[in-house]
Amino acid sequence: MNAAPRSEPVTFDFTGRRVWVTGASRGLGRAMALGFAAAGADVALTARTADAVQSVSAEAEALGAKTLVLPASVSDPAAVTGAVADIAAAWGGLDVLVNCAGVSPTFKRAELVEDEEWRHVLDVNVTGSFICAREAGRLMLDAGSGAIVNVSSIHGQVGMERMAAYSASKGAVDALTRTLALEWAGRGVRVNTLSPGYFETDMTEALRGHKKWRGHLLSRIPLGRFGVPEELVSAALFLSSDASGFITGSNLVVDGGWTAA
Ligand SMILES: NC(=O)c1ccc[n+]([C@@H]2O[C@H](COP(=O)([O-])OP(=O)(O)OC[C@H]3O[C@@H](n4cnc5c(N)ncnc54)[C@H](OP(=O)(O)O)[C@@H]3O)[C@@H](O)[C@H]2O)c1
Repeated sequence: MNAAPRSEPVTFDFTGRRVWVTGASRGLGRAMALGFAAAGADVALTARTADAVQSVSAEAEALGAKTLVLPASVSDPAAVTGAVADIAAAWGGLDVLVNCAGVSPTFKRAELVEDEEWRHVLDVNVTGSFICAREAGRLMLDAGSGAIVNVSSIHGQVGMERMAAYSASKGAVDALTRTLALEWAGRGVRVNTLSPGYFETDMTEALRGHKKWRGHLLSRIPLGRFGVPEELVSAALFLSSDASGFITGSNLVVDGGWTAA
C-alpha cells in the first residue's frame, strides 16, 4: 500500500529562532517558510518577485511570525550582501539558512543546451547557494552556531535525461555541502543537503502534466505519487533543529523511494 501524503508537517519548536529562506515566494521555499513560522520561528524571505514574497510574509505573520521581506536574486552578490546586512541589523544574527532558490528552465538533450542556459542554471543553483551560505555563514560563525540546509535534488546523485545543467548544478551543491560542513564543523555551524525527488510545484508542472513524462516519472517512484511541498517541511525542520545536532555534511533524500531502485 502506498503511504498517503501528509499535509500537516511534524512540528518542532523554533521559538526565538531566526530563519532565512531563499526561494520563498512559492513552491517548496514558501512551504518551508510557513512551516518554520508555524513552528515559532521568525522568517526572512528572499526571492526575486517582491509582491509574491510580500504575500508569503503576510501568511507567515498570520501564523505569528515576525518577518523580513528581502527581495533579491541569489546570484547577485551585492543584493545578497545587502539582504544579510538587513538581517544582521534587524535581528543581530541568524540561526538557520534554507538555501532553496533554484531554477530548472530547460528540458532538452545535452547537445542542444546553449552556453547561456548552462550559465544561468549554474549561476542560480550553485553560485547563488554558495553566496548565500558564505554571507549567512559569516554571521553564524561570529555567533558560533547555526544550521544551513542546501536544497539539492536527487539528480545530484542519479542522472536524468535532458537535465545536464540542472543535475550538474545539484551535484555541485552536494559537494559544496560536504566541504562547508568540514570547514565549519569545529565552529558550531552544521551544513546539510536536503534532496527532494519530484514534488508538486511550478517547477515540475510541465513534466507532471506531460502525457509521456508523467507516466515515466511515476513509474520510477516506488510510492507511486508525487510529493506535496508540506512533506519536505518536516525534513527541513529536522535538519535545522537540535534534533539533528550530530548530523553535518549529510544528504537527506525525500523522494518516495526513487533512489532506492
Ligand atoms: N519541485 C521539485 O520536485 C524539486 C525537486 C528537486 C529539487 N527541487 C529544488 O527545490 C528548490 C525549490 O523548487 P520549487 O519546486 O519550489 O521551484 P519553483 O516552484 O519554481 O520555485 C522556485 C523558487 O526559487 C526562486 N528563485 C528562482 N530564481 C531565483 C533567483 N535568481 N534568486 C532568488 N530566488 C530565485 C523563485 O522565486 P522568484 O521567481 O520570485 O525569484 C521561487 O521562489 C529548487 O532549488 C529546486 O531545484 C525541487
